[in-house]
This record gives sequence, structure tokens and C-alpha cells, in this order.
Amino acid sequence: MAEHQTTTGSNAAPQREEWTGQVGFILAAIGSAVGLGNIWRFPGVAYENGGGAFLIPYLVALVTAGIPILFLDYAIGHRFRGAAPLAFRRLGGPRHGKWLEGLGWFQVAIAFVIGLYYTAVIAWALSYFVFSFDLRWGDDPAGFLIGEYLQVGEPGLSLEFVPGVLIPLAIVWIVVIAVLASGVARGIQRANFIFLPLLVAAFLILVVRALFLDGAADGLNALFTPDWAALANPDVWIAAYSQIFFSLSIAFGIMITYASYRKRRSNLTGPGLVVAFSNSSFEILAGIGVFATLGFFAFEQGIAVSDLDGLTGVTLSFITFPAIVSQMPGGPIFGILFFGSLVMAGFTSLLSVLQVVSAAFQDKFGISPRRAAASIGVVSAVLSILLFSTTTGLIALDTADQWANNVGIVASAILTSVLVIWVLRKGAELRFHLNSVSTFRVGRTWIFFVGLLAPVVLAYMLISRIISLIGEGYAGYPTAYLIAVGWGSVLFMVIMAIVMPLTRWKRSPDEFPVWPAFEKEVAR
Ligand code: ALA
Repeated sequence: MAEHQTTTGSNAAPQREEWTGQVGFILAAIGSAVGLGNIWRFPGVAYENGGGAFLIPYLVALVTAGIPILFLDYAIGHRFRGAAPLAFRRLGGPRHGKWLEGLGWFQVAIAFVIGLYYTAVIAWALSYFVFSFDLRWGDDPAGFLIGEYLQVGEPGLSLEFVPGVLIPLAIVWIVVIAVLASGVARGIQRANFIFLPLLVAAFLILVVRALFLDGAADGLNALFTPDWAALANPDVWIAAYSQIFFSLSIAFGIMITYASYRKRRSNLTGPGLVVAFSNSSFEILAGIGVFATLGFFAFEQGIAVSDLDGLTGVTLSFITFPAIVSQMPGGPIFGILFFGSLVMAGFTSLLSVLQVVSAAFQDKFGISPRRAAASIGVVSAVLSILLFSTTTGLIALDTADQWANNVGIVASAILTSVLVIWVLRKGAELRFHLNSVSTFRVGRTWIFFVGLLAPVVLAYMLISRIISLIGEGYAGYPTAYLIAVGWGSVLFMVIMAIVMPLTRWKRSPDEFPVWPAFEKEVAR
């Protein structure tokens, strides 16, 4: 049988785009995984959750949930050859496809929400890249960020735009739309070929420089000294699992979409391991770089690293780091490398997040990459500018991030595993598919991890998180605000999951080219 199942005539379904080869795919997948989550989230999360001892739950989460679900995403995307809605629709077959498509749209909606604020953080990093040249934040980086740069107001909806944020945000949107419009091989793959090596080079220089700062060893001791008691705390395990999902870009459509652009005979599991271990190595490298730098900061002030505040997220990157850069010999160069790395790491991940949305609309409505990128890009850009370049941007971002990650992605992973493995019983078929194309074979334990262990752990995480969000709220923000932005985001995901499968396909999902099964699969 021909490798492409083509349809003829003017109404023919277009051939699916493809990576030029395995290396292109691996670079794009690493570019997607290595993102803001690695640089600004991992070091602080590790430090707050047991330091060196955190590596144990982190590795357990990687092996028992991260890699198995990464393989599941690859198998679904490659076997059913579509962005999440099309892939799930085909996976469900004629009987279940229609409602299973909803799970695909749920994932698309998560990616859409993440894309809106992820862009904002890259825009801030872009501004700070420029500010690094003359240390624009002066001696009060916290006051500068909150008061002067973001001009943060009370939680609520504000239409007071902050031009300093609006301009870089618009620039990031224009560039990302242009890259997505150029397609998978000419746009996304090429951007990763350029930015990923640059990122690795810039970040290595930064880490080596950090290791030679006074106090660096104290920082590393603070990060890696294990607090074994932390392992008895369920919150530490929850933190490890949530870090892995966001960081590996799994369970929200990215890896399904990226795998759908691979050629028929494509090794899936081997590159999956390369991606997973590269991502974790980068994460640990970021931990080393960040904590060596924090060690210097503590040393300069004559205090212990444990007495420092603001070691994670927005505060770490945009308040603590600028403060350190100001004190360091050659600080501007360090700032340029740090914020440049943040921009590049974030940008290659952003491409993958938005491609989830763009590809889903291309499949469903039969539009070209160019039209999809332009239409979805413009709608997202307007929303993102409205929400995040106003005086309430920081608070909206923090809230949307919390709900998208800890409710949206976790719920999506549980649903995927329960529906695919238990309800539709596709575990064996997908395992055979992985094994027919890959060098590294997965055994039945893969199904055990994907179908049993991961959903049980994740369900526990989700329930405890929901109880705490309902009972205690989040970060002291007003309840009405959390309902509107946090729960509102989840409601949007659910509505997309219900409404989108009701819209008409431009072409029947059966008309899209799929890879013919391998003999081994047929013979099974
Ligand atoms: N995987 C990407 C990150 O870590 C989304 O930021």
C-alpha cells in the first residue's frame, strides 16, 4: 500500500505537513519542553520541596507518569495522525469518536489559555533583556517591576493599558504568528534549529559564570542538601508530578500534535527518552545556575541562602535576578544572557503551545497554516493584550497559570488515561504501535503506569488541589476574581469540549491521510 493515503479532486484533503526528519522533530520537541517552566519554576520548586531530596519524587514522577504519558501522546498523535481533536476522534472510531473529540478540544482550550499568558511572560523577559543593558531597574527592582513596569493595580478587570508591556507583547505576537504561518518545517522547525543551540550556548556560559561567583557553593548546598523528611509530605509529591507535566509539555495536546507530523516509519520511544532526559538535564542545569547565583546574592548580603525571599516564578526572574545583576561585576552581560535565555526558551515552547490550537483549527475547518496562524493569532493576541498588558496583568497571569496547570492539565491527563485505556481499551493497540516503529520497546508495565498508577496519583492530586482552591482560595485574591479568571478558565475548557464537537468538519475525519498499519499490527 502507498505510504500516503491520498484523496483526489479539488476537494482533496491536503497532505499533512511533516518534519524534515528525526532530528528536526527531536529539536522541536526539546524546544517545546525546555521553556519558562525549566528556568523560572523548577529551581524554586525543588528548593521549597526538600532540595536534594526533591530529586527522588521528581525522578519517580518522570519515570512513572512523565515518560509513559509522553509515549502515550506520541502514540496517539502518530497512529491517528491529527492534532488532538482529530486524533481523538479517530481513536474513538465511529461509535465513540464524536464525544472523544471533546477531550481533544479540552486540551486545545488549555493550550489556548496558556498561550495567552505565556506570551506575556516572554514579553516581560524581552523588556528586561533590553533593560539589562543599562540596569534600568535601578536599586529597587521590586518597586520597578510592580510600580513602574507593570503598574500593578487591584485585582479586577482594567482597561488601563501599560504601553511598556503592550509594545513587547505585540512584537512577540507578530513574530510568533509569522513563524507559525510559515508551517511546520519552514517555520517551527527552522526556528528551533536557530534558537535551541543559541539557548544552550547562552545558558551554559551563564551557568559557568555563576559557578565562579563568591558564595556559589553555598547556593548549591542550599539546593542539593536533602531534607529527607520532606518525602513524607504528600504536597512534595504533588509538586513533583505537576512540575513534570508542564515541563514535558504533555497532556495538553502538544506532543500529540508534534507526533502527527512525523513520517510513517518514525522511532517514537527512543527520541522520547532523548527529549525527556534533555529536558530534565536542562532543568537541573537551571537549578545549578540559579542557586549558584542566589548563593552569591546571600554572600553579598552576609546572610544564609535560606534567609532569601522570592526564589521562584515571577519574583525570582523579575525581582531577585535583576537585584543580583545590579551587584555583580559584569552584571549587564549576565542579565542579557539570563533574559535572552528566558526569551529563547519561552519562544520555542510558545510555538508548540499555539500550534496545538492552530493545527486543531486547520484540521477541523480545512484552513491553511497561514490562515489558521493569522486568525487564531489575532484573536489570541487581542485577548492577551487586553488581559495582560493592563494594570491587572500580573494577577490575571498568576491565577490563570494556577488553574490551567493544576486543574486543567491534571484533569486532562486523568481523562486521557481513563478514557483511552479503560473505556476504549486502546492500551494494547497503542503499545503495539509504539513497538512496531520504535527501537526501545515498551512492555505491559507501560500500560500499568499509564492506565493505573498515573491516574490514581493524579486523581489524588486533583482532588486535594480542588479542595484547597475552594476552601482556601489562592494567594489572597478576592473570591469573585478567582471564580471569574480561575474557574472561568476551566469553564471555558469544558464549554469548548462540549461545543466544538458539535460543529461540522470541513472534510470528514475519515478523509484525512493516515499511515497504513504495519504488518505486525495487522497480524496481531
Ligand atoms: N514545557 C514548557 C515549559 O516548561 C511549556 O515551560
